[in-house]
Amino acid sequence: MGKQLPASELKRDESLRVVDNRTGKEYTVPITHNSIPANFFKGIRAAPGPNDRPEDETERGLRVADRGFLNTAVIESRITYIDGDNGILRYRGYPIEQLAERSSFLEVSYLLIYGALPSPSQLSHFTSEVLLHGPIHSDAEGFFRSFRYDAHPMSMLTSAFAYLGSYYGEANPSLQGQDLFTKAAKGDPAALQNMDRQIFRLIGKATTLAAMAYRIRQGRDFVVPPTGMSYTESFLYQLDHLSPTDHLSESHSNKPHPVLAKALDILFILHADHEMNASSTTVLQTGSSLPDPFSAVAAGCASLYGPLHGGANEAVIRMLLSIGSPKNVPAFLEAVKKRQKVLSGFGHRVYKTSDPRSFIIRKVADEVFAVTGRDPLLDTAMALHDAALKDDYFVSRKLAPNVDFWSGLIYRAMGFPMDFFPVLFVVPRVVGWVAHWRQMMLSPSGVKIWRPRQLYLGPSTRDYVPLDERTDAFQVGVGMEPSVIEHSGMTKRRKLAEAAGKVTSKL
Ligand code: ACO
Repeated sequence: MGKQLPASELKRDESLRVVDNRTGKEYTVPITHNSIPANFFKGIRAAPGPNDRPEDETERGLRVADRGFLNTAVIESRITYIDGDNGILRYRGYPIEQLAERSSFLEVSYLLIYGALPSPSQLSHFTSEVLLHGPIHSDAEGFFRSFRYDAHPMSMLTSAFAYLGSYYGEANPSLQGQDLFTKAAKGDPAALQNMDRQIFRLIGKATTLAAMAYRIRQGRDFVVPPTGMSYTESFLYQLDHLSPTDHLSESHSNKPHPVLAKALDILFILHADHEMNASSTTVLQTGSSLPDPFSAVAAGCASLYGPLHGGANEAVIRMLLSIGSPKNVPAFLEAVKKRQKVLSGFGHRVYKTSDPRSFIIRKVADEVFAVTGRDPLLDTAMALHDAALKDDYFVSRKLAPNVDFWSGLIYRAMGFPMDFFPVLFVVPRVVGWVAHWRQMMLSPSGVKIWRPRQLYLGPSTRDYVPLDERTDAFQVGVGMEPSVIEHSGMTKRRKLAEAAGKVTSKL
């Protein structure tokens, strides 16, 4: 018997062997970066079995089903890495802890978009381009004034990004040709310049649009972005300038409080990117059909708005208010365990230990409270946090605090209204969105439209039935006919008037 080679000297076969038990055929699927290509399975074909429907298309290849993208890698990326089991988050290889402690938001933005930490002159160029693009056309004031007095700031912001696109025809592939941005991947410098100009605009104007969505509800005039301030200082200035209760400015100097501006800067760093989260995926999905980047960002904004994504920080505050005081924490946790309540700010699809951002935020919270005063909700939050981390229900399910457990408390202490919390998430996340969008546009293999498949389970072919041969019972089942809606008295009156005497009991 020959000598057995040590495992390190064995040439490993990077492939997967698959047997299709329907046909007995064997396939070898290549493994690259510990992944298999879903498209390979299209070549695995079989004749229909007794339980197959024509719509299962067995002869056209096997499909890969992944409801909710639980285990599908949709892109190759070099931007952000998360190790959810070990609580690790890195931007371009740099640990989030180092960036939060030593960097600034625009420096981190440069890193995320361009791949390396900038030199002093590179940072200065990027900063001045972003801040230069802060001001917005005065027509935009009319756009914001067209909203109702109680419009949600996220409705305004989402619409505002799409609206912004209407100004820049030169950034619209529908008008300029579909390779407007993708030809940058082939070394076209004008295309690259055009792309970066839109990136400066999007980051520069994100704070301006967010501040406009904030001020319109207060009936205050809009503020032109100031000069001589950092990105986050400028944002706070635009929000609070000439505010009679301006707790953010030091000695009415109009310069935002340095501790609060720094805290927001750190929060922005922590929220800037999180690899293929729901909103970044939405930006790429939308961007894959090559619309202008403002439309793609508007789509991302809409995705972030949902309470399962950017709305959790608000849910934490509502939860803490409903608990009321530390003494009610045990009863609340019992209700969570009985699935009568949800512990917002705990648990994560990727992190199976504490979200590394939650430790940084906890520290920032103390610094903010030293300026704003301690939020009484903090005692309830601490009691909840400590009790959950000792409770076997949460420990056994690896449920730990995520970034949103503490961020809402900071925003509240800084005086932001609860419905503005998602806006504070969008502004920094614009950077992550444009970093992913730029990476996709520069892909050497070009941009493929993101067009997933489905498993069709609906009716097979059937023949049309004439209207007069159908009864109300033709289709039965929940959701299979339009709901019956209660109308207001106004609608009823209008219908009565229109009916001109032909009133039926159904009106
Ligand atoms: N409270 C109580 N139980 C929970 C919680 C929670 N917050 N989160 C998960 N669980 C339980 C589930 O009921 C499930 O229990 P089971 O196995 O007995 O059925 C188990 O833990 C596994 O949870 P999943 O639902 O499979 O986890 P999933 O990855 O699908 O969901 C999510 C992750 C949506 C974040 C979930 O943990 C949650 O709803 N958390 C609260 C909302 C929240 O804080 N969201 C912010 C996320 S961070 C961000 O987006 C910026």
